Amino acid sequence: MHLLTIETTCDETAAAVITDELKVLSSVVASQENLHQQFGGVVPEIASRAHVEKILPVIDQTLRKAELTLGDLDAVAVANTPGLAGSLLVGLTAAKSLCLALDIPLLAVNHLQAHVYACRLASGRDVFPCIGLIVSGGHSNLYRCNGATDFTLLGGTIDDAAGEAFDKVASLLGLPYPGGPSIGKAAAAGDPARYRFPRPLKDDRTRLDFSFSGLKTAVRYQVHGTGKLSDAAQLDEQTIADVAAGFQEAVVDCLVAKAELALQQTGYKTLCVGGGVAANGRLRERLQQSSSEGAYELHIPPMSLCTDNAVMGAIAIERLKAGKFEDLSLDVFPGLER
Ligand code: KG4
Ligand code: ZN
Repeated sequence: MHLLTIETTCDETAAAVITDELKVLSSVVASQENLHQQFGGVVPEIASRAHVEKILPVIDQTLRKAELTLGDLDAVAVANTPGLAGSLLVGLTAAKSLCLALDIPLLAVNHLQAHVYACRLASGRDVFPCIGLIVSGGHSNLYRCNGATDFTLLGGTIDDAAGEAFDKVASLLGLPYPGGPSIGKAAAAGDPARYRFPRPLKDDRTRLDFSFSGLKTAVRYQVHGTGKLSDAAQLDEQTIADVAAGFQEAVVDCLVAKAELALQQTGYKTLCVGGGVAANGRLRERLQQSSSEGAYELHIPPMSLCTDNAVMGAIAIERLKAGKFEDLSLDVFPGLER
């Protein structure tokens, strides 16, 4: 059977065709990066308009790559939570239209659960039960995951998401959007010890939460002294690299510490990491090290499955097998983590 998955939660328009044996027949991701670059972040109105323009060509290209036609599809799955309302609506409307026209079932995908499911896809075997660490532009959450769609929130950011902090600090340093890859690249030539930034909540063992907005402010004060922003262009290249490295190390320290604490508190032996920030080289390195020292199993998907994509929508196969179909009244839930 052929499942078409659609992903439009934020600023990537993506589709994939997957079989019920989780074989990926094709996958297409159309990025809007160039549209949002000049604003230093995703502009929701621009994102939803770009989805409208790209959704049909992306679906068309996905089918052609799989050498299929619409008539070959058996079901459509779409991420309907969480995300930007206008962006989610484009994907949902396309999915509903296809289901109505083709008379095939509709399935819902929780985008955050899908990020963890990317680990299941990449490893080719069951990863549950596990602790799920989801670090993206909109979320930094820790979950107890007893099954693909059985998640309990253990903690999360009380202010900015990790990816958001990467994006904001990059913009402070005059580095291009998206900030995560720019900071990662700059940090490679930097000395993480030159600037010591705070690690908010890191040593608080009573909670599994994160806080990154103070860290961002600390970077701003460190770089600009009085807090009054000077032109980022005045910073020399080495200072930018050192600040990037120091900031990245602080974020990674917090993420690793809380993931380890969640594993200790629950007694779980598997950690699955997903979301755009999971593409960060230093985080991957530190988690590898932590997992070998802490004797837990670590799953981080390859980069292409960390950032937003439709392949991870294969999680819908689980709902399909359980007969959990949606009707055409399905809505979007932008902020709701159901
Ligand atoms: O999961 P994602 O593609 O979209 C959301 O659901 O938000 O995550 C995007 C976020 C952005 O904030 C981006 O800066 C960050 O992931 N990111 C990274 C890296 N690649 C993307 N952060 C750190 N290092 C990276 N290599
Ligand atoms: Zn995401």
